Amino acid sequence: MTNHHSLIGIFDSGVGGLSMLQHIRADLPGESLLYVADSGHAPYGNKPGDFIVRRSFAITRFLLEQGAKAVVVACNTATAAAIAQLRAHFSIPIIGIEPALKPAVATTRSGVVGILATGNTVRSDKFAALLDQHGQRARVIVQPCPGLADCVEQGDLHGPHCQLLLTRYLQPLLSEGVDTLVLGCTHYPFLIPEIQRLAGPAVTILDPSPAVARQLHRRLEAAGLLTEHCVAGTVDYFTSGPLEPTAEVMARLLGHSLKLEILPEHVHHDIPQPSIHTLDAGFAQSAVGGARPIA
Ligand code: DGL
Repeated sequence: MTNHHSLIGIFDSGVGGLSMLQHIRADLPGESLLYVADSGHAPYGNKPGDFIVRRSFAITRFLLEQGAKAVVVACNTATAAAIAQLRAHFSIPIIGIEPALKPAVATTRSGVVGILATGNTVRSDKFAALLDQHGQRARVIVQPCPGLADCVEQGDLHGPHCQLLLTRYLQPLLSEGVDTLVLGCTHYPFLIPEIQRLAGPAVTILDPSPAVARQLHRRLEAAGLLTEHCVAGTVDYFTSGPLEPTAEVMARLLGHSLKLEILPEHVHHDIPQPSIHTLDAGFAQSAVGGARPIA
């Protein structure tokens, strides 16, 4: 790993951001990447906002120490909670991700769009602003999905628990005539085969990650930060989670083995784990009874 500002830092609450990393790797093969999976603190989807902000700052500082010239917040939940403060504090380009509502409302044929995301994302001001901006052009049904990111975090992509959650979250959307599903969490692209199987071939699934990778490319180019090396960049992986199980899940998701390192103590244990909020519980109940229609 290098210490001058030459790599792209990427982080997520856990392994979900690897879906983003794959697109960045394809789009910018010469760039060296450093990925942080904050699996020891996942999920972010039900944690207090100030906790997510503190984790995002601790990880961004670590990425800068390691030589990041840009940071990708490969997590919708952390983007919603922390990106404005990160951008105000750090001067390097910081790229975030949000649900692809704009293309969804532009391309839906049935006029009904579903969004799958974490509880924190759908409760955020940023998400409310996104709905205000684009939600009027179609009927948008928002479905928080407590527990779904945890399935991916544990490598459960096809098991009965994952199936149960997917059926519970998709059924209300499908019975309302949704023909376009927006994946508002970076863990969910790993579930696309199961989602497509349950939703049927007529439903379009939108993952914003390729567009975010292109946006990163444009930002680096505009800032004169693209690497001039012609050789393939390196990829380093760090986690705050248990080393072996996290490495095993990451290898399964990426389809190749990898060397995973533990985050340094000061990044890993910089703050105590907060007690978990029960905010998702109400959403979980309403999800069982039916998705919450908006607009
Ligand atoms: N992957 C994250 C996202 O895009 C969140 C998953 C979680 O930690 O709850 O929102």
